[in-house]
Amino acid sequence: MLGSVRSLRTLAAVLLLLVPAGVVTVAAPAGAAPPAAPASRAEVLAPTPPMGFNDWNAFGCEVDEELIRETADTMVAAGLAAAGYSYVNIDDCWSAKERGADGRLVPDPVKFPHGIQALADYVHGKGLKLGIYGDAGTLTCAGYPGSLGHEDLDARTWAGWGIDYLKYDNCNNQSDGSQADYIRRYTAMRQALDRAGRPIVYSICEWGSSRPWEWARGVGDLWRTTGDISDNWASLRSIIAQNAPLYPYAGPGHWNDPDMLEIGNGGMTATEYRTHLSTWAMMAAPLIIGTDLRNASAETLAILGNREVIAIDQDPLGVQAEVVSDRDGLMVLDKPLAGGDRAIALYNATDHLATVGVPAGDTGLDPAGAYRLRDVWTGAVTEAAGTIEAAVPAHGTVVYRVRALRHHEHVAPAVTVAAALPTVVPGADSAAALTTTVTNRGSGPVRQVAVTAAAPAGWVVTPAGATRRPRLGTDQNLTTRWTVRAPDDVTAGEYPVRVTARYAWGRGATTTTSSTVVATVVTAPAPGRRALSSVVPYSTANGLGPVERDQSNGAAGIGDGNLLTIGGRYYNRGLGTAAPGELVYYLGGTCTRLVTDVGVDDEAPAAPATFTVHGDDTAVATSGPLAAGAAPVTLTADLTGVRWLRLTTTGTAGAHTDWADPVLSCGAAGPDDPVLPLRQTVFSFESGTDGFTVANPGTGGTVTQSTAFHTDGAAGLRVETPVPGNWFGAPVPASLDLTGRSGLAFDLRTEDVGTVGEIAVQVGDALTWCQAGRWAWTNPHASRTITEPFADIECPSGVTLDVARIRVVWVFLNTGGVVHIDHVRAE
Ligand code: GLA
Repeated sequence: MLGSVRSLRTLAAVLLLLVPAGVVTVAAPAGAAPPAAPASRAEVLAPTPPMGFNDWNAFGCEVDEELIRETADTMVAAGLAAAGYSYVNIDDCWSAKERGADGRLVPDPVKFPHGIQALADYVHGKGLKLGIYGDAGTLTCAGYPGSLGHEDLDARTWAGWGIDYLKYDNCNNQSDGSQADYIRRYTAMRQALDRAGRPIVYSICEWGSSRPWEWARGVGDLWRTTGDISDNWASLRSIIAQNAPLYPYAGPGHWNDPDMLEIGNGGMTATEYRTHLSTWAMMAAPLIIGTDLRNASAETLAILGNREVIAIDQDPLGVQAEVVSDRDGLMVLDKPLAGGDRAIALYNATDHLATVGVPAGDTGLDPAGAYRLRDVWTGAVTEAAGTIEAAVPAHGTVVYRVRALRHHEHVAPAVTVAAALPTVVPGADSAAALTTTVTNRGSGPVRQVAVTAAAPAGWVVTPAGATRRPRLGTDQNLTTRWTVRAPDDVTAGEYPVRVTARYAWGRGATTTTSSTVVATVVTAPAPGRRALSSVVPYSTANGLGPVERDQSNGAAGIGDGNLLTIGGRYYNRGLGTAAPGELVYYLGGTCTRLVTDVGVDDEAPAAPATFTVHGDDTAVATSGPLAAGAAPVTLTADLTGVRWLRLTTTGTAGAHTDWADPVLSCGAAGPDDPVLPLRQTVFSFESGTDGFTVANPGTGGTVTQSTAFHTDGAAGLRVETPVPGNWFGAPVPASLDLTGRSGLAFDLRTEDVGTVGEIAVQVGDALTWCQAGRWAWTNPHASRTITEPFADIECPSGVTLDVARIRVVWVFLNTGGVVHIDHVRAE
């Protein structure tokens, strides 16, 4: 099975209504294995970060003994066991829904017909170890029996079966949310494991909620530091940003756990998956494979099996890399290794090729005349005098194993090939400027340096300066400007331009180094009225972090804003910028009008700020200075004949400046044409609660119409759940056909608690449940849009998601408390 069936846990309550009642239960196997000698608490069970496999990321609840056995077989056969992966871990959904008559947890008799103990014997027979999953609450996340109040019996049961690793989750925890309560619940299992007498690695999984790095050393061998990972770049980037700064807390037997690996699951590029393993290794994170190993590609196995990267993760010193620098999406990590080497990672979280580097003196490297850099992904060896640097592709990471260069070593100088290329507009009069810089970071000179740039067929790349240099000494560079012309008929998109430096070094050896810069081509917008946030800008400059699409400008990161909010009014479309800022769009003379609301966002009310719309070199509409908290102002700009549209904000630096609901009209579009991309409202809550009900009514959830939050019309829905987790939804109006739409979305605003937003649907006459595989966390007192492409909504096998036959739409809210939702729609 490809893809992931994630967060089925959330469906559990509902599934209870659908799964046939009376699940068969069997007694726990008698004659458990003799307990090993009591574990000494001084014993370090995880002197290096645990390595292994867990089924959750790839299989969700679809776990059984065959999968575990076959995975163990594959781990041995594919060489992963030899590379260090030793734990085979079963996640949620392994047990029956009820405890046995003796109170013990019972393996699901269908999924594990031979029981867990037999499986442990099998896995042990392969030289591997078996892990299991439990929960410090009344039910696991997927609704199976939890261990709260049953710690001793469950620990004894697991020890008796021969379990070697316990992942202990945090759902349905009955907690008051205090750190003391977390310590109590997780220590109870620690003590139970000690009493059970078998050495079992104890993996605390409370998602970083109670800052476990502050208290869990000595309780668990590792602790999750973040919410669940998903198989996409935004998730990976966000988890790295959260876990990297926690380096002071990690060490042998007490590891930060940024969650299991997604490598191989298909939602990221090979570059991103290499970043995944690279950063996990630098962060001394557990390496728990989360893909279907039985069907893994050679590329996946090669990434997971990279011995040099694994050696960095498993280094016996057991130190998590220090964050040496982290600016503008470029991070340098520095990890000491046994024997004196250091691993230095250059991580580029931006969307462009970027040069990432660090003076050797800013790292823990001892001063030396030169350093030997071994790239652990390519195997290339170079030498650097004083700057450890590389041109790193977007979302990529270069990891060097570094030590002082020995005198007799003949190693090529490290040469950085950097390139920057602004967005390209097709056509003869619109040549873009490519800048390339070849820098010699080696201790010896490079000679006969020549740089070339290769673009796709039909493009013309012409140097506007020197492309050769007889000699570059240490830290000298050759900077060249080029013009790049895309063919007139090129379609908008991304195109590679490969820049290569060729040079001689030492006694006549010749080497090349290349980088690929991606050219983004923009063309004039097609006719119609469209949300400006759906048009790719030619360029952006922003006072604070990146410009956000359809949300406000949170801070430094991408996607960290809220819904745009001006003077108490919420918008789900627009551009979140920060002063001083400039957005430039290429219109090519084809558009007529821009209408937009503007104002200072309520979330960070620095003010005043002024908004101006420029058509070519003329200001065509301006707001004048706007105060914090002021109502939105509507600007209307005539853009007839304008080639370049510029939107600027000036005023207090860092003011969160919102272009709310900007609509651009091009071609013959009239004011009554629908705004693209089209949206189809499913529930707007204007005339009431639109039939919304609570999926699990026993828990006392309520829904009421409310004007406290709305992103369309004048009202939304207020939802209250006394207990964590419930689905809210309603039958789709019969007249509604969602054919032609690509996904579902809704807007939400939290009050005192944060929540997880998700979407599920019921399809066809059988009302089959299909659920989204991803979920998005929203902090307390925050707002956002939850979107779910239909392609990411998974149905049970044999059922296809026919969007013409969606009968019921549900939204999920994970925590107890009050949450507002509005504008449930298809897009
Ligand atoms: C939580 C955990 C996940 C996984 C699921 C199982 O979300 O954080 O890693 O174990 O529960 O339901």
